Amino acid sequence: MSKTVAFHLQKGGVGKTTISGTLACQSALDGFRTLAIDCDPQGNLSSWFLTDPPKYELADVLQGRCFARNAIIPIEGIDNLHLLPTFGIGGTLKNYSETKLSEEPFILQDLVREIGEEYDHIVLDLSPGLGRLERSALIASDEIITPMTPEVFSLDGLEIFIDELQRLKKNMRCDVKHNKIIINSYDERIRQHRDIYSAAQSSGRFRVYRIPVDPLFRKAQEASRAPQMFKVRGRGLKAATAEAIDELDRDIWV
Ligand SMILES: Nc1ncnc2c1ncn2[C@@H]1O[C@H](COP(=O)(O)OP(=O)(O)O)[C@@H](O)[C@H]1O
Ligand SMILES: [Mg+2]
Repeated sequence: MSKTVAFHLQKGGVGKTTISGTLACQSALDGFRTLAIDCDPQGNLSSWFLTDPPKYELADVLQGRCFARNAIIPIEGIDNLHLLPTFGIGGTLKNYSETKLSEEPFILQDLVREIGEEYDHIVLDLSPGLGRLERSALIASDEIITPMTPEVFSLDGLEIFIDELQRLKKNMRCDVKHNKIIINSYDERIRQHRDIYSAAQSSGRFRVYRIPVDPLFRKAQEASRAPQMFKVRGRGLKAATAEAIDELDRDIWV
């Protein structure tokens, strides 16, 4: 049985794609059969890891146009990592989620259960918002981890998410775990960042992780590479970034 983890907050630009992609790579590098599913109609995770356009996408699988195994692609250069992609341009996931998905809210859960036999770990990258598509991905998950950036309204955004998630769990009779927060693009020198970290910790409800600002993420994404395996002029990820990834990797998959 595989474990499925989604990284989500309704806000954009907080690092959902960066963190889900990096942790999927880490799981694969550790030797686990790992599947990343791009559930974002913008297809950012897919354009990160794929250099050639795929033949099929997630929406094709959901609409019965192909089998999951026909759409899943092994990622070049990263053993054990597979991707179920979404086309950023010309894709049908957005249209599908706005039309047919309402009749089948458990379709992603069914898919994850069906292909879970073949994977140890499944990672879902979601789009911002809390519409039908995100809801169906959240109820397909065993655990949701929330990345946020240390900004003025970030704790409000977290409260809103907790509230919505509570309602979703009740309505859908689902018991997904949500007890980890990642403060992304954290800078210890900035007081506001330290304050937001303390406030998140003091709620007592969450284990709070910090990932520093690290320009290597963007560069690895531009080069279609795993950040852990990528170097620019001989330098890889910052030591603190690598430590945060290791810590998360250890805690998530237990
Ligand atoms: N820790 C970080 N340090 C520096 N840049 C980051 C970090 N995390 C994310 N980014 C950059 O921020 C941008 C938004 O991140 P992304 O993962 O796409 O957010 P989301 O998926 O939540 O919209 C991307 O350009 C990404 O490379
Ligand atoms: Mg994203």
